[in-house]
Amino acid sequence: MTEERARWGSRVGLILAMAGNAVGLGNFLRFPVQATENGGGTFMIPYFIAFLLLGIPLMWIEWGVGRHGGLRGHGSVPGMFQTLWKNPVAKYMGVLGLFMPLVVLIYYCYIESWTLAWTFFSIKGSLHGLSEQGMRQFLTNYQDLQAPEMGWWVPFAFYFVTIAVNFGVVLKGLSGGIEKLAKIGMPILFIFAAILVVRVLTLHPQTVTLANGTTATSSPAAGLNFMYLPDWAKLKSPSVWLAAAGQIFFTLSVGMGSLQAYASYLRKEDDLTLSGIATAATNETAEVVLGGSLAIPAVVAFFGVAGAVAIAKGGAYDLGFVAMPLVFNKLPGGALIAMAAGVMWFGLLFFAGITSSVSMATPTTSFLQENFGFTRKKSVLAVAGVAVAIGLLHIFFYQWGFLSEWDYWAGTFGLVILAMMETVLFVWVLGPNPWRWRQVWSADNRMWNELHDGAAWRIPNFYRFIMTYITPLFLVVMMVAWGYKDAWPTLMMHGIPADEHVTRWWSRGVMLLILAGLMLLTRIAWRRREAQGEEAA
Ligand code: PHE
Repeated sequence: MTEERARWGSRVGLILAMAGNAVGLGNFLRFPVQATENGGGTFMIPYFIAFLLLGIPLMWIEWGVGRHGGLRGHGSVPGMFQTLWKNPVAKYMGVLGLFMPLVVLIYYCYIESWTLAWTFFSIKGSLHGLSEQGMRQFLTNYQDLQAPEMGWWVPFAFYFVTIAVNFGVVLKGLSGGIEKLAKIGMPILFIFAAILVVRVLTLHPQTVTLANGTTATSSPAAGLNFMYLPDWAKLKSPSVWLAAAGQIFFTLSVGMGSLQAYASYLRKEDDLTLSGIATAATNETAEVVLGGSLAIPAVVAFFGVAGAVAIAKGGAYDLGFVAMPLVFNKLPGGALIAMAAGVMWFGLLFFAGITSSVSMATPTTSFLQENFGFTRKKSVLAVAGVAVAIGLLHIFFYQWGFLSEWDYWAGTFGLVILAMMETVLFVWVLGPNPWRWRQVWSADNRMWNELHDGAAWRIPNFYRFIMTYITPLFLVVMMVAWGYKDAWPTLMMHGIPADEHVTRWWSRGVMLLILAGLMLLTRIAWRRREAQGEEAA
């Protein structure tokens, strides 16, 4: 427990790893779907506001929480919360920061494995010449494990390979594995994305057949207009605001526990302010500039705005796995170009995915190492074993909504809860008493000073105000609005087909078991610490 903590190799490596954590499937698959479903330009306004008031502050808070805990020997959130607040409850609150990365890791890797599979199918030419119907069928066959053309075991094989590669990287360690992956994966991802963006934006106007049978002309520019021209009237809809804030959470990886785990390897003299904002800015560039200029303009060019909206509403993965390969098939240049575009699109998704998923494996593996004296190898194998075993449930029960439940509770709703807790602990408990206005601005605001240890840049002072008042308020409003508008109906399974109810309850049961297991492990860990007469925390 007292052994020297691992370190990041270099500042560039750290930022690439952090950006790799943030830039993920969320940027290229989730963002275009969310933006399209929620009115394009209309979505971008609350999105940007949530970025400034939630995303950026939480990014700093999480780096701060992580470094604060890491300096005291903790690489995961239970211990980090315990160092911020001496109440014994703190560590149990922090269990969410073990639970969510583990749970999201398991299903995220399954989707990541599809991107690997689709890269392979693009090379093999399996997607070439498929009709819209055929392309959709290809995806559902794969998801339902009844792909006649390839054998039921293929999705399993791709899942195992994905898990093996992920944990292989984690096994190689912080700077030798995760940092190296980011240094290779991130440039490839950006290059592939840039090439595709240029190809998409230089497409000629296309003739599209509309739903009512008439034809019209559409172009990538129509997609960009849709993305950037807001419809002010629709801004009144709370669901657009919730969707935008939810996207900010997911895409920046905040509220999860993985950024904190990465930040726990920082030293006191390392910069956090500039690096945090650099990470957020890289993610937003990848999301808005690249993610926003790829799927939406491409699909709008060939299907029109209404067609693109219909596709996005049809299913979370249809835009990426159905519409995009259809677009590639229509590119001038034939089979070879379709293949190259497919490899670049699904390849970039794979790199975006894996640099994120390795970060989700970090909290639990360091938790086992730090608290149970496991070697790195043993803890990596243990977490990988759990992930594979539970991952099988996702593969078997995907079609009955098993994965959607996890994505909602752990990948969406849970993020706000953890964010709320860490904001209160870091800003209000460590930092100033929010009722004492003078403390917020005083030179010994500990929260502010903690962020500025080793800082290469001073955060503008008005962020003291934002972080102490606005961010917590925003979070409370979100929690209440979300709970009422979304979480309650979801819990009650409103609008869910009856044949999915049983599986979805099972799915929740498995999540609760994982949560209970992690609570128990935390309890045992602290018992052990006490027995060893832990040095003053
Ligand atoms: N930010 C990642 C994405 O956009 C997802 C993620 C969430 C990764 C939380 C790590 C932790 O896909």
